[in-house]
Amino acid sequence: MQERLNGISACVFDAYGTLFDVGNVTRGAQAELGERWRVLSDLWRTKQLQYTWLRGLAGHHADFWQVTGEALDYAMTSLGIKDDGLHARLMNLYLSIPAYPEVPDTLLRLRERGLKLAILSNGTPAMLTAAAQHAGIAAYFDAVLSVEEVGVFKPHPRVYQLASQRLNVVKDGICFLSSNSWDAWSAKAFGFQVLWCNRYSQAPEHIPSQPDGEMQDLSELPDWL
Ligand code: LAC
Repeated sequence: MQERLNGISACVFDAYGTLFDVGNVTRGAQAELGERWRVLSDLWRTKQLQYTWLRGLAGHHADFWQVTGEALDYAMTSLGIKDDGLHARLMNLYLSIPAYPEVPDTLLRLRERGLKLAILSNGTPAMLTAAAQHAGIAAYFDAVLSVEEVGVFKPHPRVYQLASQRLNVVKDGICFLSSNSWDAWSAKAFGFQVLWCNRYSQAPEHIPSQPDGEMQDLSELPDWL
């Protein structure tokens, strides 16, 4: 039998990798890059996240657009690619990043059940608004929350606190969804109820704290609530 979460009145979603297909950005340049698009994609994303953590620890915040650009500089340099036009095209693809196929229908089903919905992401307000509008899902959300409001990246607890404050919902009344395992674990440690959207069948993390459940994609979410 499907397990359920109790007492949830809001669902809060991570953006990149959870609602939006982050791998799709570099796939958009497949014609130019050939098979190197995969390596570039992995290196770019890995470096992007490392830079958010490093900036958070060092207290050197810069917004996610800048960090994403700097991570792309690193990834392109590592692969010996020097092409300012490609850099600009890849960055712009972030603004029209597609949602995963099950996302619009899942959001509609949750709204019909009267749940509050929000995005909580490292992305800048401009990046998140552009992506949500382009994917046709902006109207489903009560709030699109960016770490820019608190000036530090995930997994700082101030970021998760922002969602609770802005939605006016206690921590454990929020169901937080992320496909980024470190984000899911950290949100659980903060005090949300958490479901890990384990799209790529990754191994569990060994950091505090274990999420409440796991799903393969977001279409399973309504059955948990
Ligand atoms: C975000 C990153 C973690 O959207 O994917 O916050």
